[in-house]
Amino acid sequence: MKEKGTVRIAVFVSGGGTNLQALIDAERAGIITHGKISLVVSNNPNAYALTRAENAGIDTVIIPGKELTQDAFETKLIETLEENKIDLIVLAGFMKILSHNFTRRYPERILNVHPSLIPSFCGKGFYGLKVHEEALRYGVKVTGATVHYVNEIPDGGEIILQKAVAIKKGETAESLQQRVMRQAEWIILPKAVELVSKKISTEGKEIGQ
Ligand code: GAR
Repeated sequence: MKEKGTVRIAVFVSGGGTNLQALIDAERAGIITHGKISLVVSNNPNAYALTRAENAGIDTVIIPGKELTQDAFETKLIETLEENKIDLIVLAGFMKILSHNFTRRYPERILNVHPSLIPSFCGKGFYGLKVHEEALRYGVKVTGATVHYVNEIPDGGEIILQKAVAIKKGETAESLQQRVMRQAEWIILPKAVELVSKKISTEGKEIGQ
């Protein structure tokens, strides 16, 4: 049984880490009070997100995704999570799909931020800029972001929070990506992390129970 109190959070990243930065800033601003960002894990040794973590004094671990089989990668992930007594995993721009073998160990303990209103423009192959290119190509007038629990279906777990963003005339995929981040992702991700951390700290359950 986990003692009631602060939930230890691991943030998984692959790139620039602006969502990680939003979480770090939210913890400093007192928006996240029930959770502590305790570890940042990257599958990409060159991710700028690692520099953001180091600047904030957060421990980092690199598990190079390209050099390992999925199984070996996930075994290392699990070891790292156990060593660091992690209660909650947040995928913040993490571009590697996790297998059912991994996700089933952590029901309602993995969150993901996705840059569209799920169930539109999501699932395998929809990540990063591609999501916004597809939204513009389809011609939707409203897009946004979603934070959801992660299960075995890519972008298929229960939705926690969503926020809509109206598409402007003459928008490019790049400008839309920036606005969706600023107006939706960086707002709902910290809120969802606080909601779930509060739930976990009240339940007082160990991860995987
Ligand atoms: C964000 O827009 C995030 O929603 C998206 O990648 C970007 C990462 O930016 N994630 C996905 O598309 C996952 N399917 P960041 O590294 O600056 O947070």
